[in-house]
Amino acid sequence: MCGIVGYIGNRDAYSIIINGLKRLEYRGYDSAGIALYDGEKLNLSKTKGKVVDLEERVKKEIPTNGNLGIGHTRWATHGVPNDINSHPHVSNSGELVIIHNGIIENYATLKKELINRGYTFQSDTDTEVLVNLIEEIQKQENVKLGQAVQIALNQVVGAYAIALIDIKKPDEIVVAKLGSPLAIGIGEDEFFVASDASPFIEYTNNAIYLEDEEMAIIRKGRDIKVRKIKGDKLVDPYIQELKMNLEQIEKGGYDHFMLKEIYEQPSVIKDTYRGRLLADRGIVRLGGLENYIEKFTNADRIIIVACGTSWHAGLVAEYIFEEWTRIPVEVEYASEFRYRNPIITSKDVVIAISQSGETADTLAAIKLAKQKGAFVYGICNVVGSTISRETHSGTYTHAGPEIGVASTKAFTTQITVLTMIALKIAKVKGTISNSDFMLYLRELELIPSKVEEALKSNEKIEEIAKVFKDVNNFLYLGRGYNFPVALEGALKLKEISYIHAEGYPAAEMKHGPIALIDEHMPVVVIAINSNHYEKVVSNIQEIKSRKGIIIAVVTKGDTTVKEMADYYMEVPKTPEALTPLVTTISLQLLSYHIAVMLNRNVDQPRNLAKSVTVE
Ligand code: M6R
Repeated sequence: MCGIVGYIGNRDAYSIIINGLKRLEYRGYDSAGIALYDGEKLNLSKTKGKVVDLEERVKKEIPTNGNLGIGHTRWATHGVPNDINSHPHVSNSGELVIIHNGIIENYATLKKELINRGYTFQSDTDTEVLVNLIEEIQKQENVKLGQAVQIALNQVVGAYAIALIDIKKPDEIVVAKLGSPLAIGIGEDEFFVASDASPFIEYTNNAIYLEDEEMAIIRKGRDIKVRKIKGDKLVDPYIQELKMNLEQIEKGGYDHFMLKEIYEQPSVIKDTYRGRLLADRGIVRLGGLENYIEKFTNADRIIIVACGTSWHAGLVAEYIFEEWTRIPVEVEYASEFRYRNPIITSKDVVIAISQSGETADTLAAIKLAKQKGAFVYGICNVVGSTISRETHSGTYTHAGPEIGVASTKAFTTQITVLTMIALKIAKVKGTISNSDFMLYLRELELIPSKVEEALKSNEKIEEIAKVFKDVNNFLYLGRGYNFPVALEGALKLKEISYIHAEGYPAAEMKHGPIALIDEHMPVVVIAINSNHYEKVVSNIQEIKSRKGIIIAVVTKGDTTVKEMADYYMEVPKTPEALTPLVTTISLQLLSYHIAVMLNRNVDQPRNLAKSVTVE
């Protein structure tokens, strides 16, 4: 995720863009940049760091006058966060300037073609390829900017919200959208462009939200022409009157970042496998893995190190890896691993999982593993983070910034990456049948729509939350792939509602926790269709006969557990190995609603920090 802002009109573009970028920093803040047209030439400044760093840089580098400009705050996807990879990007002629939020999947092929035609590139970004592709089309086809953008976007695979300026036409901004948001604010003789309406809410309440596969040519003092990117159809855009305040807009209309991030999961899971999973062709392609497959296929053992929610994702991976790759897996709390004298050899592969990429314990575990000769693979969300740099190779989750302290989308995107890695290794090792491999690829592609379906239970889950918001204890039970989901569900509830909760493998209950069961104890049981279904049904009976209250996560269409449970939350039918990606959604929503009803600070719970950079 990145934030984009543009302005064309009669006001001072600089302050509008800088203030707008500050409001969009929730979308990414590893680098920022701005391009301003002062009436004669385009002045550009960009830097690694936050928007305040950009302001400092601008003071030293460029004049800030001008009524046309574009700006960007970045969440790196292609290329580490540094000055050169920051946006805006300029075409080889110096005439076209672009900002982009999204991922161009086929950029490598396009880049090769452009290099063959004599283009040179400064950055590692996909965006610089796009701006030069547009320039090349303009030259070759002798067409106007809008047409060149349209032709280029028809050659592009991926997701984008772009804003583009041609210094030969300083009365125009061209914008386009597919998969990433883009709003156009309409003022009097002025227009604003942004990833959401927050940068322009004090100037105008009128906005057009472009639909996917639409582009617009915005002309100063004139009009906006919206058209389809495919074909020639003009669109009559719907102008909305905005009623939200600034804070609501930044949260996308949700009350909390956590809820927004829960609801983002269908799209970010797609972003995680975008361009990496080609189910039709039976391909999984992870850049960081391609050159290191043999490290995995020859490994004696995989050791996963992580903390908190990332550790739970590691536990899910243990089941998946052992089932498909037949490589033994150990999952370690990074904080414990670093302080014992673990046996690690050069035949071990260590996978470090971390949303932030800055967790001190995980970092120390990585250093120890490297000292002992292991190959270390990182799975991080934050591009360019310390862990992503300290590991030998790795895969980014591409979940976009996670602002809520309680991890939600980080968990499901980590599992998505781990699933792709396991499938790839199993395929190369020959430990998974071709039909299973193909089945799981196709099923993984269906996960976003299944998560959407699971989210539809939100209102029902809110009703359940009302019933249980005042209890003091919760138990969470799950078996197999869903045992880690039980742990994660309990952690979510604890950290944001401050209610005591414990997660257990369902069968462990009779070894102790069953003593806690009485008519006051709600027990959340993940009781979906699986190999353990009958056993879980027995566990539910054991709880019921001790008057415990059952809140069950069930597969749509289930009748047995629904009849036994006091309350249930439905999720769509999914192959067992992939069920954590849907069952966890119900538990995230349950803890969220309980915390809201208790008036907790959901996004910043007490005593916690988003990234734990101390021991
Ligand atoms: O950034 P990391 O994934 O390394 O963070 C690990 C834990 O600190 C983190 O998952 C923490 O447990 C979250 N608050 C859980 O919601």
